[in-house]
Amino acid sequence: VPEDLLLDDDVKTLLDVARAVDRCTRCPLSCNATQGVAGEGPERARIMLVGEQPGDREDLQGRPFVGPAGQVLSEALEEAGLDRTRLFLTNAVKHFKFEPRGKRRLHQNPTAAEIDICRWWLDKERALVQPDLIVTLGASALRGVTGKSASITSMRGAVHELEGGTKLLATIHPSFLLRLPDRERAAKERALFVADLALARKLA
Ligand code: URA
Repeated sequence: VPEDLLLDDDVKTLLDVARAVDRCTRCPLSCNATQGVAGEGPERARIMLVGEQPGDREDLQGRPFVGPAGQVLSEALEEAGLDRTRLFLTNAVKHFKFEPRGKRRLHQNPTAAEIDICRWWLDKERALVQPDLIVTLGASALRGVTGKSASITSMRGAVHELEGGTKLLATIHPSFLLRLPDRERAAKERALFVADLALARKLA
């Protein structure tokens, strides 16, 4: 069996996922990324947070949400009364997608096809952790978890149920807050984000 075609039997634990995702070549994104970045957190976490994909810092460190968006997330979690170390943090796509621009690597959104291919890994993590609640951060995460494209606005604020009974809350991606130039708007959006996370705390 080629390494990239890992079979169900080869990936039985979260450690297997972390090791194997690094060698995955199911989609072309692995060609340029430094390493695959698997989810991180307690195996029995009640809440799973799903982001989009590793960013520049995550790609270099091999850990999710350690860059600027991760900082925004950490602060919002704290404000919402959620302990980050008790959550399972992962991404819809496990390799960093970027465009080289001089010395910088500019983030690019993953395509629906890339998200759908990478679902194999997200599904493994979901099956192993079995969270009560999944919180999707942004549109790519929502697609990764549901397999469908839906608007966050239409789903936000309500508790949805996934097949198997897992609850789902859809909210924005923290990097959205970093991109808002208007201070007042940013503060308002941030407060809504914290409110979504506080609702997550109540649910799980
Ligand atoms: N953005 C994400 O969606 N995930 C990360 O791990 C970091 C930034």
